[in-house]
Amino acid sequence: IKIRIINADQSETELSGAPGSSLMKVAVDAGVSGIAADCGGTLTCATCHVYVDPAWADKLPAPATDESDMLDFAAAPVRPESRLSCQIVLTPELDGLVVTLPANQY
Ligand code: FES
Repeated sequence: IKIRIINADQSETELSGAPGSSLMKVAVDAGVSGIAADCGGTLTCATCHVYVDPAWADKLPAPATDESDMLDFAAAPVRPESRLSCQIVLTPELDGLVVTLPANQY
């Protein structure tokens, strides 16, 4: 499953991850520095914040309440397309997903 990450400096990173992996895990394993993911995916840090390209928004399940609550702690401005990448599970429907990283995670 291919993912395109637009980094805060506008450079782009192409990643490929297995179905069932979280976007956060795939990005961290690939060394994407713009995702900190301090809590390791347990939804307690909000340092894995990403902006999902609006064209992909309706392909993702809506955020659960605990994800929305934790997003309130994200350092960068939260927008309608904000998600926590540890809660984005890769599925075949997400092949080609584009996300933009915020300028900061702290
Ligand atoms: Fe901590 Fe996503 S990795 S909330």
